[in-house]
Amino acid sequence: AQVINAEFVKSSAKTEECPSDGLPEFALVGRSNVGKSSLLNSLVRRKKLALTSKKPGKTQLINHFRINDSWYLVDLPGYGFAAAPGEVRIEWDKFTKNYFLQRSTLVSVFLLIDASIPAKKIDLEYASWLGQNKIPMTIVFTKCDKRKKKKNGGKRPEENVQDFQELIREFFEAAPPWIMTSSVTNQGRDEILLHMAQLRNY
Ligand code: GTP
Ligand code: MG
Repeated sequence: AQVINAEFVKSSAKTEECPSDGLPEFALVGRSNVGKSSLLNSLVRRKKLALTSKKPGKTQLINHFRINDSWYLVDLPGYGFAAAPGEVRIEWDKFTKNYFLQRSTLVSVFLLIDASIPAKKIDLEYASWLGQNKIPMTIVFTKCDKRKKKKNGGKRPEENVQDFQELIREFFEAAPPWIMTSSVTNQGRDEILLHMAQLRNY
């Protein structure tokens, strides 16, 4: 399950503007700065296919990348970007949630959670919303290369991963699949690609 070619197709401001060729797709969603664009670049082994930034809020539209001419990876704007004015934030929330509910070719959402820090309220809210709406999803823990830091709660990524899973258990009938990753070491890359291949073949 390797990526042979990857190309940017388009940016869309709403679901109706997304590609209409019916190819299956997977959306990367998560808090601003969690590492969505970095993960996408790691999956396709290209440093700059999706633009990344130290400043949150880099990705602002629904971005479709076609993989091996047969499926899409979708980079979405992050939620919880504190510097965005309230109105803009509500707009993002509306359009990503509309996309999850309306996009019929969406096979599964990949919810990215930063494993280097304790769970944030907004991540729990998002997981709860996805669970309640029965949107198929996989949890991708990012930044698993980062060492524990006192200022980040002093826990190792493995501990944060376990805590998060306990906190979201009540939102799901069956616990969603999960994968630990790092875009620095490429940990989890093959596991994600294999998982996506299996989901496409259902
Ligand atoms: P928005 O587009 O603003 O929503 O952010 P994003 O989720 O696309 O995050 P992005 O990929 O731009 O990464 C944000 C910052 O985190 C960058 O400085 C990355 O270099 C860093 N980063 C991303 N993934 C990892 C990782 O696995 N490990 C480490 N150590 N840093 C990472
Ligand atoms: Mg981004």
